[in-house]
Amino acid sequence: MMTPAEPLAEAVLAPAKVNLALHVTGRRPDGYHTLESLAVFTRFGDRLHLEPAAADAFSITGPFGPGLPDDGSNLVLRARDALRQACASNLPPISIRLEKNLPVASGVGGGSSDAAAVLKALNQIWACGLGQQELAEIARTLGADVPMCLTARPLVATGIGEELEPVSGFPALALVLVNPGVAVSTPDIFQRLEQRDNASLPALPSKVDFHSLRNWLETTHNHLEPAAFAVQPVIGQVLKALDKAGSGFSRMSGSGATCFGLFETGNVAKRAAVALRARHPGWFVAATRSMAWENDGNGDS
Ligand code: C5P
Repeated sequence: MMTPAEPLAEAVLAPAKVNLALHVTGRRPDGYHTLESLAVFTRFGDRLHLEPAAADAFSITGPFGPGLPDDGSNLVLRARDALRQACASNLPPISIRLEKNLPVASGVGGGSSDAAAVLKALNQIWACGLGQQELAEIARTLGADVPMCLTARPLVATGIGEELEPVSGFPALALVLVNPGVAVSTPDIFQRLEQRDNASLPALPSKVDFHSLRNWLETTHNHLEPAAFAVQPVIGQVLKALDKAGSGFSRMSGSGATCFGLFETGNVAKRAAVALRARHPGWFVAATRSMAWENDGNGDS
């Protein structure tokens, strides 16, 4: 018996993905790059509002909604359709509103996280009963970063980003995300790499806290930074601005242009965000916390 579609009581969070470190270790014959990345997911992100409707519908709101295509190319719809195909037939129509709070094409996995959130939410709403493994298989068909966004906990990703090792005991981090308002094409950045056979990530410290993590990060890289700086030199200014605002460690996430600053406490991060907004009114600035290893809820902070 089909369970009728129920509206979710709350909007679903599609967290930002932040690559704290990202090593490019090689390139496969199909052109995809092999990576090793420590990634965390933040309480700040896009939000998805899903409810039963007479016919399927899709709309986009939020500060970064304008200009984003709401046609079949959007990963939200591709995720909805892929899940529908994997589940029983006669699934009821669904209305989806994407609240786009994350800058687009910005290295924090917004589209991938939206797709992952839709897979999880519709699996529940439609009572499809797919397990984590089955959802991950669908996620993989939607993009290299979608499986890690399904996990949405601190993890080390290898392969092309789809082999995931959750990092137990990892704390919540106080972060400030900054984007200078320029879109960066991920394939373009990978294509521009001059060196692809870099070293693996070093082993993580046995106890991760602000200080041990900062020391560890100093020994690692985001190997996509030089190519992204060449395309958008403003990224260098973002990192300088984060340092000036008191960040303990600043780096670009993914293929950019969003950068993160790591702070010792949430209050210091919030003060830094206020200062950054005042100095750079045109930039996107968000103080947030990453989700710890433990399931500590799904809310904003
Ligand atoms: O899988 P996804 O569509 O998110 O990847 C976008 C593009 O980024 C790919 O088409 C590829 O050019 C590049 N990419 C890569 N190696 C990865 C992930 C992405 O070369 N591990």
